[in-house]
Amino acid sequence: MQAQQEKDYTQKFELSLWKKLLHYAPRYVKHLIALAVFMAVSALIDVAFPLMTSYAIDRLIAGNADAPLHVMGHVVEGLARLLGVTNMTAFIIVYALLVCCSVATIYAFLHQGSVIEVGICYEIRSLGFRKLQELPFSFYDRMPVGYLMSRMTSDVQRLAETIGWSLLDLFWGAVMLIMCSVTMLTINWRLGLAVMAVLPPLGVISVWFERRILTAWRSVRKTNSRITGAFNEGIMGAKTTKTLVREEMNSEEFNEMTGEMHAASVRAASLNALYLPIVIALGSLATAWALWRGGMLTLKGLMTLGVVQVFVNYTVQFFEPVRNIASTFSELQAAQAAAERVITLLETEPDIVDTPDVIAAFGDSFHPRRENWPELKGRIDFEHVDFKYRDGEKVLSDFNLHVNAGETVALVGPTGAGKSTVVNLICRFYEPTAGVIRIDGVDYRRRSQLWLQSNLGYVLQEPRLFSGTVRDNIRYGKPDATDAEIEQAARLVNADAFIRCMEKGYDTDVGEGGSRLSTGEKQLISFARAILADPRIFILDEATSSVDTETEAVIQQAISKVLAGRTSFIIAHRLSTVRSADRILVIEDGVIKESGTHQQLLRLKGSYYRLYMSQFEEERTRKLLSEA
Ligand SMILES: Nc1ncnc2c1ncn2[C@@H]1O[C@H](COP(=O)(O)OP(=O)(O)OP(=O)(O)O)[C@@H](O)[C@H]1O
Ligand SMILES: [Mg+2]
Repeated sequence: MQAQQEKDYTQKFELSLWKKLLHYAPRYVKHLIALAVFMAVSALIDVAFPLMTSYAIDRLIAGNADAPLHVMGHVVEGLARLLGVTNMTAFIIVYALLVCCSVATIYAFLHQGSVIEVGICYEIRSLGFRKLQELPFSFYDRMPVGYLMSRMTSDVQRLAETIGWSLLDLFWGAVMLIMCSVTMLTINWRLGLAVMAVLPPLGVISVWFERRILTAWRSVRKTNSRITGAFNEGIMGAKTTKTLVREEMNSEEFNEMTGEMHAASVRAASLNALYLPIVIALGSLATAWALWRGGMLTLKGLMTLGVVQVFVNYTVQFFEPVRNIASTFSELQAAQAAAERVITLLETEPDIVDTPDVIAAFGDSFHPRRENWPELKGRIDFEHVDFKYRDGEKVLSDFNLHVNAGETVALVGPTGAGKSTVVNLICRFYEPTAGVIRIDGVDYRRRSQLWLQSNLGYVLQEPRLFSGTVRDNIRYGKPDATDAEIEQAARLVNADAFIRCMEKGYDTDVGEGGSRLSTGEKQLISFARAILADPRIFILDEATSSVDTETEAVIQQAISKVLAGRTSFIIAHRLSTVRSADRILVIEDGVIKESGTHQQLLRLKGSYYRLYMSQFEEERTRKLLSEA
């Protein structure tokens, strides 16, 4: 019922994972380096300001000529000597420069951060989209759509944010912390050590809290993805739910999930509420200590007011990185889980791949080498084919079938017999687990998938339309088709009449997935689409099951015209559709039970005969009833 369970991830920070991720977005490495440099500069400027203030207080305001000069003091007085100006003027120049630098670096790192965030998002999403297009049918059997969607949207977003901001925040914090500590220790190591004594307890407390907060958030996220899954199913299955009167049961299940989420969220919030005051209290303690000890030393003439100000300033500044480091680490862990999921997706190897020599000769899906493609004539041979779905039972075993180019073959038989499986194998959506399928006498694995698939027309029972107009949808497989060609294809399948009756004719918007059309209308349009592409092999899997018998009869005529000269497979439950096929195969349990023309099979008086008779009876009764 529910979307793929989210795995639990290790707490360890894995550098290799992040490296791999950057490997997917190599263009952004230089932006990252630039960002790191800007952040380091920005941290250094933050450390320099209190030293400037200290110089101003001691030398310029108090006029204390004996007050010790620290780094910035040397810079100011050096500049004064160099330019031959007063210390005051030099101070103003340096201060102004620092402010400008600060503004510039802040602008630069904000800009770089956004470039990285947006860029990585874009890059990984395009890779992911491409990957998802490349992966074969069998992949989608295993992966719920909701799962894939959240990988490509929220996970990628989270990753990009983390790389763009959190990772660098960590770097900024580290530079800040180190520079503050070093400066304090050089100015007055005793007071420096005393102030820094709060760091170890703060570290321990932070780790303790963050672990717990993180666990609570994980559980929130896990429940959240289940809730999203439930929403998804709830919306998609609204009709089914209503008709089966499942509302109450579904609501109960849903309430249980939201309850869990609520409890975990409250836990996380309470922990957070407790953690912050503790950090602030510890920070204030250190500041108070710096003020008190510094004050005492000043009174004794052992320290200047300016230096006390430096300490107080640093103790205040210093706690922010510590707090950040703790929370950023937990963010990183969450993002790491996202990274793992996204990378797993990007690294999924398709089950069906063209071998390197095939790609060398015929190109891949994105760079086909059409000039080397042989013409497809349409002979198809199944030789001793075995097949099972990844985690299913064997569907076909030792299946043999030989179809001549241009032949029309119909597959009939009970539900689950393996009819769709046979045509899926022909399309190479799946490959045989044993045996070979030859097309024009050559094992189809020795040709590219694209070669085969661009020669295929496939109309399904559940036709898939895409958002856009009717015209766009028919044109989908042949982007350079003219309007006249499109209309001709529509006329051929008798879709022209109903399309013209629509509000805007061929320019009518079909809605998302064609939701504004009936299933029968969608089938007709996808039929026109398949015909337009002029395929050598044509497959109709229950393609006419949703149109009325009259329309079907008209399509039937069209089909016989369209199918002439093409190898085609028609799967149908309604036997009237298959009567005119060159050969009809009755498939039961993955085995060809009977094979022959309509007349031959009727004479055989076997499964086909019984099936036909029962449908014939039904049809006649219906006709009589409607006439009556
Ligand atoms: N994607 C899949 N993964 C696992 N098993 C599958 C998958 N698709 C089909 N099967 C199984 O393979 C068997 C053959 O299915 P198939 O779809 O070929 O039947 P069918 O003859 O086309 O039936 P229908 O007339 O209902 O369309 C069934 O037992 C089905 O459960
Ligand atoms: Mg089927």
